[in-house]
Amino acid sequence: MKMKTKDLTQIAFMIAIIVILGFIPPLPLGFIPVPIIFQNMGVMLAGLLLGKKKGTWAVVGFVLLGIVGVPVFTGGRSIIPVITGPTAGYVLAWLVTPYLIGRGVELMQAKDKMVLQWISVVVAGVLFVDLCGSIWLSVYTKMPLMQAILGNTVFIPGDLIKATLAVVVVKALVHNQRMRMLLN
Ligand code: BTN
Repeated sequence: MKMKTKDLTQIAFMIAIIVILGFIPPLPLGFIPVPIIFQNMGVMLAGLLLGKKKGTWAVVGFVLLGIVGVPVFTGGRSIIPVITGPTAGYVLAWLVTPYLIGRGVELMQAKDKMVLQWISVVVAGVLFVDLCGSIWLSVYTKMPLMQAILGNTVFIPGDLIKATLAVVVVKALVHNQRMRMLLN
């Protein structure tokens, strides 16, 4: 895929959105070493708004910033505490989430169908991410996998709200004439 200036601008814009969502403080939960965060909504937006390729580049760019030491992750962390901590599984899953969301939208021909877009975001951006996160959490903490999966169900209501918000925001942006010119 040959990148045009517009593609790079869109990717940079999406990285900025993901970083900004990380400014919202995490909500720690006492019984599981994983907080409720808002940055995962940026990953959902990347797949929905930019599609599978550019959306993936946006998340890869965001993680690369963390790798070079920029404190882009929620709570002002760079990659080291994330990748060596209990939440590494979620972040690894984020790297393929926009691809899966974009591919799901393509397969279901869901560009103008909010419900189908929502299904794609829920499957890839919520269930898949929470499952990968649970697997790593179970390895990291040595808790049984089923316990980690059950613990992760606490995120589902909030993540479903984020998925719904992401679909609504994208719909509003795509309906906006000026935004549509920027996105195409
Ligand atoms: C990080 O260390 O910055 C990553 C945190 C991952 C938190 C996960 S993302 C899916 C689920 N929903 C949340 O609100 N929190 C967890």
